[in-house]
Amino acid sequence: MRALTWHGKRDVRVDTVPDPVIREPTDIIVRITSTGLCGSDLHLYEVLGPFLEPGDILGHEPMGVVEETGSEVTEVRPGDRVVIPFNVSCGTCWMCGQGLHSQCETTQNTGRGTGGSLFGYTKLYGQVPGGQAEFLRVPFGNTLPVKVPDGPPDQRFVYLSDVLPTAWQAVRYAEVPRGGSLLVLGLGPIGDMSCRIARHLGVEKIIGVDRVPERLKRAAERGVHVLDLDERGEDLGDAVRELTGGRGADAVIDAVGMEAHGAPAGKLAHQMVGMLPGGVAEKLMSRAGVDRLAALHAAIDAVRRGGTISLSGVYGGMADPLPMLTLFDKQIQLRMGQANVHRWVGDILPLLTDGDPLGVEQFATHTLPLEEAPAAYRTFQDKADGMVKTVFRPGAA
Ligand SMILES: NC(=O)c1ccc[n+]([C@@H]2O[C@H](COP(=O)([O-])OP(=O)(O)OC[C@H]3O[C@@H](n4cnc5c(N)ncnc54)[C@H](O)[C@@H]3O)[C@@H](O)[C@H]2O)c1
Ligand SMILES: [Zn+2]
Ligand SMILES: [Zn+2]
Repeated sequence: MRALTWHGKRDVRVDTVPDPVIREPTDIIVRITSTGLCGSDLHLYEVLGPFLEPGDILGHEPMGVVEETGSEVTEVRPGDRVVIPFNVSCGTCWMCGQGLHSQCETTQNTGRGTGGSLFGYTKLYGQVPGGQAEFLRVPFGNTLPVKVPDGPPDQRFVYLSDVLPTAWQAVRYAEVPRGGSLLVLGLGPIGDMSCRIARHLGVEKIIGVDRVPERLKRAAERGVHVLDLDERGEDLGDAVRELTGGRGADAVIDAVGMEAHGAPAGKLAHQMVGMLPGGVAEKLMSRAGVDRLAALHAAIDAVRRGGTISLSGVYGGMADPLPMLTLFDKQIQLRMGQANVHRWVGDILPLLTDGDPLGVEQFATHTLPLEEAPAAYRTFQDKADGMVKTVFRPGAA
């Protein structure tokens, strides 16, 4: 089959690789019809190289049609249409029972000290082959796939794999009080969708920050008060306080993560890690603080005293310096983590089948054949060509 594989920093290729096969009686094989490109993939493209091996298949936002099922699979059949959550979660352990699917105890990577495995996401998370491919082996065939109805286009459902539950969790963790304000840092797919969900759940005052004109425009068109980082970045906290009665935002969602624009020290560390041999870089990344913390620092400044910061942007440093004095003094709540996809599916599915209140059908700016994925990674990283969300269509010409 054809699959998008990692070969090095900013080097991904579409290669011909062996088709996946059923290994456990509960496995299924899914023929992928649509599969998203995510800001998390950009971390693999740029800074998480030490945790990848050449040939690793990337991608964690797939949906498609069940092609084959293992002998113990009873809940789906060949021909069923399914979305695959990005967490490889069993659905039956204690953590999954708590709705903490990203901490699944069946797939936790105890040797690494990390949580449940993820599709297409490094040795830290199980080195599981990903879904930017024609076919995907999916474990836990009875509990992991989300069955969706036939008929509506893939765009209706594909974001159920990651964007929708991640943004939903970000908004729920932010816990904006009734009548309160929400600041969203970063208006990529996750930040944009967080604004849409917050609005849908009744948050009226939403302030969004980015520096890419098309992304600011997209959010503004849906009623978000946007601030351009390049104009207000230096005094972002003041700009937010001006808009929130002098106190700051009740809650802040950081939808930026470890590669934030505007943190020179972190940038140098990222460049150094990029130049070191794999093993050395891996050790350094595992022990040192190498995140770029501009967005997190902005969140800590702009949130009001007693407010909440909800981090959905991914961080990976082990010793990032944080302003504990300010966090403690301002009495800030911090909530974070990979999305627990299955936890939110029941809340989200009705919004995809009854009307389209979140605008998912028009959410993708680019729908491309898988063969164009290497160029799309570059364009997405450069934030060029108005690209916000890309969905690949494996098998399409
Ligand atoms: N927690 C989860 O389960 C989960 C799931 C998916 C994605 N993510 C993470 O969410 C983050 C966003 O993902 P995405 O797909 O929207 O990616 P993206 O890279 O397209 O979006 C990030 C946006 O942040 C903007 N930005 C950069 N620096 C900024 C700053 N200092 N202040 C404000 N904005 C800034 C960029 O211009 C960009 O538009 C990534 O870190 C990704 O890894 C987490
Ligand atoms: Zn993703
Ligand atoms: Zn589990």
